This record gives sequence, C-alpha cells and structure tokens, in this order.
Amino acid sequence: MEARNLRKSYTRGLARVDAIKGIDITVSSGEFVAIMGPSGSGKSTLLHILGCLERPDAGIYLLGGRDFSDISDRELSLIRAEKIGFVFQNFSLIPHLNVAENVGLPLMYSSQQDRADEESVLKVIEQVGLAHRVGHLPVELSGGEMQRVAIARALVMTPVLLLADEPTGNLDSKTGSEIMELFCRLHEGGVTILMVTHDIQVASRAERILNLKDGTIQ
Ligand SMILES: Nc1ncnc2c1ncn2[C@@H]1O[C@H](COP(=O)(O)OP(=O)(O)O)[C@@H](O)[C@H]1O
Ligand SMILES: [Mg+2]
Repeated sequence: MEARNLRKSYTRGLARVDAIKGIDITVSSGEFVAIMGPSGSGKSTLLHILGCLERPDAGIYLLGGRDFSDISDRELSLIRAEKIGFVFQNFSLIPHLNVAENVGLPLMYSSQQDRADEESVLKVIEQVGLAHRVGHLPVELSGGEMQRVAIARALVMTPVLLLADEPTGNLDSKTGSEIMELFCRLHEGGVTILMVTHDIQVASRAERILNLKDGTIQ
C-alpha cells in the first residue's frame, strides 16, 4: 500500500479544518504498522481514506499497485469489500445477527457470492478463538469477544490489508492486550496490519510506529 501527499479538509460552519495535510505512507505486504497520535490529529480521517470509506481531496493512493484516484464509487466499494478489512473501536456488529451471521456479512455483499460458504466463516471464527460462541448474539458477548467477532468479519474475505481504528479503545487494559496478542498472531500468519491508536503500550506491539501530529506524519 502506498499513499503520496494525501490531503483532506472538512468545513465546519464557516471554518475549514485541515484534517490531513499531505501524508506519505508505504506499508509492505506482511508488515504490522501502528500510527500513533493524540485525539484530533487526523488518525481516523487517514484510516478512512486508506480504507476507501472516504476519498481524499488530493493525493495518490495505490493498493496492490492499482491507483484508486479516478475510479467510480461503485468500483471503490467493491475494492473496499474485497481487499480491505476494517476494525472499529466500537465493534459495529449487527445486534440481531449471531456471531456466524455477523462474520459472514461481507461475503453476502461480495461480487463472488459463491464464496459465501460456512466453512470460511467457521475458519476465521476459530482463528479468533470464538468457536464456542458461533450461535451467540452480540449482547451475550463480552467487549473483547465482540471485538474478536469484528476482527473475524474483517478477515473473512482474506483482505490484502487489515485496518484497525483504536481497536482496544473501548476495552479494559487486560482485554486490550489479549486483542493485541491476536493481532500479533495474525501478523505472524502473514496478515498486513495498519492500526491507529493514541496508546503507546498498544502501538509498541507493532513492528513500526509512525507519529501523526496535526495532520502530518512527524
Ligand atoms: N466529518 C467531519 N466533519 C468535520 N470535521 C471533521 C470530520 N471528521 C473529522 N473532523 C475533524 O478533523 C480533525 C481530525 O479528526 P480525526 O481524523 O477524527 O482525528 P483522530 O482520529 O486522530 O482523533 C479533527 O479536528 C476533527 O474534528
Ligand atoms: Mg479517531
């Protein structure tokens, strides 16, 4: 993944906020990289752009050698669905779907519906250590378990890039470090991970740390 001179501004009333001010970042296949920065430094904005959830105002973004600048919204959402796994701070599970159904969701939206097999769902659920919770609803799970479900859902399409926005932000420190253990195991298994956090303990589990301040990488 390679990004050059990414910029993004928001207008809030009459004021303009430059959230991202010309960011260069390269992540090689198999790397585990953390982006650290205080609240408001632009971490989520950057991750949303890299996750194709938002478009930058300027800059170049390449994933697997492909330039995303001029593609349609439809193509962009297909790429997002097939190539990128996203883990949010608040888990973002669907409350009325059980673990297996939540994890299987990305397969239903994918263009390759024949991949929607139970086997790959069960495999990733096992990978995150939740084989005993397959039929449970989110409300029946702990915070750490819910985040494991979200990670399994992010992995079910075997994405080329796993993005995580403050994945331990809603968890106590013990549960948070268990989730980081899981990220380390996934990394050892070859998953490419880019995670943002404001917590140095969490960031220090990555191979490489980038510091973000006021929308620029220091
Ligand atoms: N949708 C938005 N509209 C207006 N301002 C925004 C929006 N999203 C983010 N911002 C502003 O951009 C800056 C960076 O925000 P964000 O990327 O969420 O930072 P972080 O994740 O590091 O806390 C902040 O000043 C924030 O208020
Ligand atoms: Mg944020």
